[in-house]
Amino acid sequence: MKDPYRQFVRPLLFHGVTLDPEFLHHRTLDLLAWLGSSGDGPLAQPRPWLRRQFSLSDDRLAQTCWGLTFANPLGLAAGFDKDGAGARAWPLLGFGFAELGTVTRYPQPGNPQPRLFRLVKDEAVLNRMGFNNRGAAALAERLGAYWATHRPPIPIGINLGKSKVTDLADAAADYRFSFQQLYPYGDYFVVNVSSPNTPGLRSLQAADQLGPILATLQAENHDGKPLLVKIAPDLAWPDIDAVIELAQTYNLAGMIATNTTIARTGLKTQTLLQTGNPVAEEAGGLSGAPLRQRSTEVIHYIYRRTGGTLPIVGVGGIFTAADAWDKITAGATLLQTYTGWIYEGPWMVPRLLEGLLTQLEAHQLSCIADAVGLSHR
Ligand SMILES: Cc1cc2nc3c(=O)[nH]c(=O)nc-3n(C[C@H](O)[C@H](O)[C@H](O)COP(=O)(O)O)c2cc1C
Repeated sequence: MKDPYRQFVRPLLFHGVTLDPEFLHHRTLDLLAWLGSSGDGPLAQPRPWLRRQFSLSDDRLAQTCWGLTFANPLGLAAGFDKDGAGARAWPLLGFGFAELGTVTRYPQPGNPQPRLFRLVKDEAVLNRMGFNNRGAAALAERLGAYWATHRPPIPIGINLGKSKVTDLADAAADYRFSFQQLYPYGDYFVVNVSSPNTPGLRSLQAADQLGPILATLQAENHDGKPLLVKIAPDLAWPDIDAVIELAQTYNLAGMIATNTTIARTGLKTQTLLQTGNPVAEEAGGLSGAPLRQRSTEVIHYIYRRTGGTLPIVGVGGIFTAADAWDKITAGATLLQTYTGWIYEGPWMVPRLLEGLLTQLEAHQLSCIADAVGLSHR
């Protein structure tokens, strides 16, 4: 498969001109917003081309989960499209689903820049964005306008976080506001209590704090939409046990494992170019290749503890079909990628899906659902 991204774009962006990663990120979202915009004429022209390039449609990759149809198991992870700018473009890029957000009750600017760093030698990203977003009401307005003309053909998740200005003690009401605002527009919802970049947020993973949030949201969940919780890779096993217990108590649809890590072990990059500081001293969450193994371990653990009864969305360091296969056979029903997609580019999606089909054939399995948790059997 020809891959102009890896041939031309990545060398230029990652090793040639040194454009600010956040600037590039926003220009990518502008492009996606344009590509997804409705209407006929010249604007509609790239769409069939994009579909041909990036979509790989095969019944063996399709699954039904939570009553939703996923044409393939690979989704876009939260954080790339916080304000839903590209909401209508993600299906064109071959993703089986996309998660928008994290969105908070109040609009907020996030942390001071620079706050997004590439660690190219490690195939990793370090970020301390701090939930920069336009707020739940703005996202609801945008999706209301988009969905009025065209509901996307893939499931859309919405990831909810706590506003920085809201006290931890008032977190449940903060999440509830966003949940109510966005309820009509999401196919599933995620309680994000695992970002390292909002002070105190990860303490909400503790059972006594998370329980009331989940109870509050489920009380509002009148149509029984799937509600998931996203956890950090840095939790100790007993803490993960406590979240699993809550997931069962509050009838959650699944868990997303994992968010970025605060660990800095085994990195080749010592110093951040932009700041001149040692990576170990820079605040933020690390994603990409260095997270791969730990997130897979967490998936294994959750699958084992739940006997495979709780769907897991596996995320962390997925670049290739082999990475994806490891997470599926560890127990992930669905997958997400963020950093891998930045490094590998948009042809990563069909390449990875093609590789999953090869794995199915090699293991004489008839569909991807049969591979979920395979390493436990
Ligand atoms: C720049 C950046 C911003 C992110 N923002 C969010 C976010 O707002 N909410 C969230 O739940 N996860 C966020 N994440 C975490 C990703 O969704 C994902 O869990 C993590 O990056 C691991 O996957 P990856 O190795 O494929 O990137 C962010 C990741 C990156 C790199």
